[in-house]
Amino acid sequence: MSYTIAIDGPAGAGKSTIAKKVAKELSFIYVDTGAMYRAMGLYFLRKGIVPENAAAIEAACDEIQVSIRYENGEQQVLLNGENVSAEIRKEEVGNMASKTSVNGKVREKLVALQRELAKKENVVMDGRDIGTQVLPDATAKIYLTASSAERARRRYLELQQKGTPGVLEEIEADIIERDHRDMTREISPLRQAEDAVLVDASHMTIDEVAAAVISEFEKKRTV
Ligand code: DC
Repeated sequence: MSYTIAIDGPAGAGKSTIAKKVAKELSFIYVDTGAMYRAMGLYFLRKGIVPENAAAIEAACDEIQVSIRYENGEQQVLLNGENVSAEIRKEEVGNMASKTSVNGKVREKLVALQRELAKKENVVMDGRDIGTQVLPDATAKIYLTASSAERARRRYLELQQKGTPGVLEEIEADIIERDHRDMTREISPLRQAEDAVLVDASHMTIDEVAAAVISEFEKKRTV
């Protein structure tokens, strides 16, 4: 049996930073499920399929193959064999992923892939529905959040560092809109699983959050 750590939470809470760090410390595999929704979102964007057109999205699902592989310990996402790991990081792709991930067929396809991965390896998996839907029996479940102001501030600094600065107010508005969509969708909305531990990272360092996740895992695995 493999160990699984589920980390869910809203956009920009630091899930991937924490999940990567925890995975490294425990020698687990890090699985970024948002990247998979982004890869599908990228396909729809390229094909000019609008999120409102559910029939076109569902038809396109059969043309899409998402897979992942690891290079130097980093997850790479392949869309029909093409490595799209860099391209999926764009804001427009994130927004498209949020809009198209409401579709049941999109979710079904990716949830199957995610469960398959977790069966084979010890994983730290992050997303929106990992503790509630994908891995309901996860060894440890964390709901990681931070205030929208703090999440926007971090995103702002990240964009500045990348050389593509944004406007703080717009970034925060975008984050709030995305959270609202992810939390109110009909299928597998973002919510804290009943048995998940809430970690509010607004005033915590990366090391403190990672330590909290590992401590929760150590506690649960010995139960
Ligand atoms: O975590 P992220 O920003 O890379 O995710 C992009 C979008 O994908 C997010 O707004 C909602 C969707 N998503 C999802 O519905 N379920 C997941 N497990 C992960 C992401």
